[in-house]
Amino acid sequence: MFNRVARRAFSTTRVNPYKVTVLGAGGGIGQPLSLLLKLNHKVTDLRLYDLRGAKGVAADLSHIPTNSVVRGFAPEEPDALHSALEGADVVLIPAGVPRKPGMTRDDLFAINAGIVHDLASAAAEEAPKAAILVISNPVNSTVPIVAQVFKAKGVYDARKLFGVTTLDSIRASRFISEVAGTDPTREHVNVVGGHSGITIIPLLSQTRHHELTREQRDALVHRIQFGGDEVVKAKNGAGSATLSMAQAGAKFANAVLCGLAGERDVIEPAYVDSPLYKSEGIEFFASPVTLGPQGVEKVHSIGEISSEEEELLAKCNETLKKNIAKGVAFAEQKK
Ligand code: NAI
Repeated sequence: MFNRVARRAFSTTRVNPYKVTVLGAGGGIGQPLSLLLKLNHKVTDLRLYDLRGAKGVAADLSHIPTNSVVRGFAPEEPDALHSALEGADVVLIPAGVPRKPGMTRDDLFAINAGIVHDLASAAAEEAPKAAILVISNPVNSTVPIVAQVFKAKGVYDARKLFGVTTLDSIRASRFISEVAGTDPTREHVNVVGGHSGITIIPLLSQTRHHELTREQRDALVHRIQFGGDEVVKAKNGAGSATLSMAQAGAKFANAVLCGLAGERDVIEPAYVDSPLYKSEGIEFFASPVTLGPQGVEKVHSIGEISSEEEELLAKCNETLKKNIAKGVAFAEQKK
């Protein structure tokens, strides 16, 4: 048994009191994501909001003996959304509808654009300095919507807005390890561009796997771009990736929190307001970013790429430009 002093000396975890809000916490992603955030020692105040079920999820999670207080907020209570958001350091948004078989992420725009717009408006009022992590699809368009909402309210900080693309990276690690017969935890693929179909560009030429044939590379690129469809098909109408997405969302949220806490060399890919292709009219792009106390500290370039990847990039950027314009036009018309 440790005495009190020894116990204190034994505890090396520095507690950072971060307030984290999940909007859409009762859903397929929201529930496991909230669980993983409850297990994150950097989170001390966890607030869950959803049109349905957030209070139940909060009550359930509140019995886990970690150092955070969990509260659930239901829309029938006065000012629930605003109370859930007030003073948050990090806001994750997985609210919205998921895909059914045969749908693209863009097909979700009609419903999710409005949901994200309204949640972003509340976030801009109650947590204007928070890091906003957008999970709701189509991310290529929902992130520009959030940017427009924050700009209209005069509180936009490009360093604090993120489209969560981590799932593409974790899938890439897994899928390449299956082809190469390696340990997936030691695989890293730089995945850049956007977060849907052909806008997802895994830069396989930058990996150590030069042994892969052209056919293997093409098949791998396709699987990473359309891996989400495997889950949508297997769930057969019951939704899209939720558990792997929760893991991805929690990983990215932890990276953002590590950055806020001043840890060094925190680098993760994300879809952000990016200088990389602005000259081509592309305002948002996913690439590795260094995360710091103010959010994005540095947007990294995509590095050397092969001629095949150049072709993928050209197609990606053509689509991204349209996806971004669609989000901006939606937000403009809502003004
Ligand atoms: P789901 O339908 O299981 O859960 C969504 C939740 O959002 C529901 O509980 C619903 O009540 C809630 N909601 C809807 N409107 C809301 C509002 N105005 N305020 C608060 N809550 C609201 O869906 P799931 O599977 O959790 O997916 C959520 C979103 O995440 C979808 O748009 C999906 O496409 C996206 N997604 C994103 C991924 C990524 O890599 N960024 C990966 C997988 C899914």
